[in-house]
Amino acid sequence: MTAAIRVLAISGSLRRDSFNTAALRSAAALAPEDMKIEVITLHGIPNFDADLEEGPGPPPAVERLKEAIAGADALLIATPEYNRSIPGVLKNALDWASRGGGASPLWGKTAAILGAGGRFGTVSAQAHLRQILQRSHMRLVDRPEVMIDQAADRFDDRGGLTDERFRSQIQRLLDALREEVVRSR
Ligand SMILES: Cc1cc2nc3c(=O)[nH]c(=O)nc-3n(C[C@H](O)[C@H](O)[C@H](O)COP(=O)(O)O)c2cc1C
Repeated sequence: MTAAIRVLAISGSLRRDSFNTAALRSAAALAPEDMKIEVITLHGIPNFDADLEEGPGPPPAVERLKEAIAGADALLIATPEYNRSIPGVLKNALDWASRGGGASPLWGKTAAILGAGGRFGTVSAQAHLRQILQRSHMRLVDRPEVMIDQAADRFDDRGGLTDERFRSQIQRLLDALREEVVRSR
């Protein structure tokens, strides 16, 4: 029997009732049987500072994030859109994790992305996120694109994704992510 596929799902929103975090929790419930999705947020990650990195070394929260990334077979990243791009907290975490070139835990890692937002469903943020991840030589699953528009109408009061179209898109994205992990093993 092959080992289960471990996916680290990173939310780009710190908001308690975040639609992006909720989308990842729904993804965890929709995952194929042999895939285990752990959802995390980026609370407590300090601002990137090259002096910290070169002096005492990355802070413990950053080390924990890098270890979690390194221990995962794949990443699933959910991004809100802030001013047509990704939130600073997500960019900051990716900046920390990207350090070290080929030694970065992002390097060569398989990843899929999705986003939940307003009228345009994070289209600009996702374009930026792809560009950022490609810079770290990540293996990006590019289909299907999951852009949850009008997010406030797509979830119930408990954060469950109720829209069948997006539930099906997420399932297909997870299947594609699974295939890519198996291919790269
Ligand atoms: C600073 C800021 C900038 C935003 N800029 C955009 C934007 O450019 N495009 C957009 O569709 N929504 C924008 N929004 C709305 C967010 O995408 C929306 O609130 C989303 O639900 C946030 O994600 P979350 O629910 O996961 O926290 C912005 C929100 C904030 C706080």
